[in-house]
Amino acid sequence: MFKLLSFLSPLLGAERAHDIATAILYFTGKIPGVKWLLHKLYAVEDPSLEREVFGIKFRNPVGMAAGFDRNGDIFRELSAMGFGFVEIGTVTALSQTGNPKPRLFRLDNDQAIMNRIGLSCKGLERVISNLRHEHNGIVIGCNIGKNSATPPEDAPQDYLKVFRNLYQYADYFTVNVSYSTSFKQYVPRTKESIISILNPLFDFRRGQNQYRPILLKISPDLSNEDIDMMTDIMVDTPLDGIVATNATIRHTGLTTDSELLKSYGAGAISGKPLTKRSIEVVRRVYQRSHGTYPIIGVGGLMTPQDVKDMLDAGASLVQIYTGFVYNGPRFVGDICNSLLNK
Ligand SMILES: Cc1cc2nc3c(=O)[nH]c(=O)nc-3n(C[C@H](O)[C@H](O)[C@H](O)COP(=O)(O)O)c2cc1C
Repeated sequence: MFKLLSFLSPLLGAERAHDIATAILYFTGKIPGVKWLLHKLYAVEDPSLEREVFGIKFRNPVGMAAGFDRNGDIFRELSAMGFGFVEIGTVTALSQTGNPKPRLFRLDNDQAIMNRIGLSCKGLERVISNLRHEHNGIVIGCNIGKNSATPPEDAPQDYLKVFRNLYQYADYFTVNVSYSTSFKQYVPRTKESIISILNPLFDFRRGQNQYRPILLKISPDLSNEDIDMMTDIMVDTPLDGIVATNATIRHTGLTTDSELLKSYGAGAISGKPLTKRSIEVVRRVYQRSHGTYPIIGVGGLMTPQDVKDMLDAGASLVQIYTGFVYNGPRFVGDICNSLLNK
């Protein structure tokens, strides 16, 4: 089914193919026995795959990256397919549609995806209605952002609103300050602006009975100095870890026909063109923080070997998005099997 949709993607458009695949997962997942079947078909279970990171137990280190299940509609089905955790979002307080379509393109020659979706989310109410039922042990990360219409000076309130409303429903939170794929949105870049977003979250957390780790998701397009600055924020504040990286706005080195690329317009690139850089960023964060903080490595993990390289660079957990789109649902199991054969 996934291979068929992937094949039909040029006809349907990449976003419609994605929407159809997720709708099929959503509706079939409600049929008794389907999640059991997905688990039987795709999941690989073994105690030696388990990890304990920032106080949370993961059944394996491979998660679904943010942007795939933006509203938390299909995290149960993704978990049944073998993911060790699912990061939903980016969740914004209010519903917003993102940029006009088409805004998602497959670059098959480059094993990449280009997107300028912007943050498209159905808002807090929809997400809460999805998350409020028992999670049955599924680890859920919630990636949070601000609505495009919120002025930059009100960004901290926006992040806090999403955080406090979802606090009881997610296992950890990722604060998305990485380069926005909307190309219109404000991106907090300075130490002060990032800390002004984080501090209210730390304050809120201090008053809660349960501890929720907070991570920062960073862009691969940051300079080395800015990566160090983000790492220092982690070391100097109660931040629990870093998610590195988001997609890149750099289009260098692509083999996709340049006229075709031009016709698609602006967009951030995920997938193979990102592999080297995301691993480099993780290594830099790891070395500067002396390996003492958890890092979730994401970006261009297209083969089990890429995942091993990412873990060797210092990641405690990994996430995949484009690799899943290109390799299909067996990919998570392939990665787990390859980790077992280490
Ligand atoms: C279509 C699409 C939408 C995405 N949306 C989000 C998002 O809403 N929030 C976010 O933090 N990252 C988002 N990402 C970035 C991914 O989570 C991931 O960081 C990036 O794609 C690199 O991983 P990959 O090469 O495995 O795809 C999106 C990526 C894609 C391809």
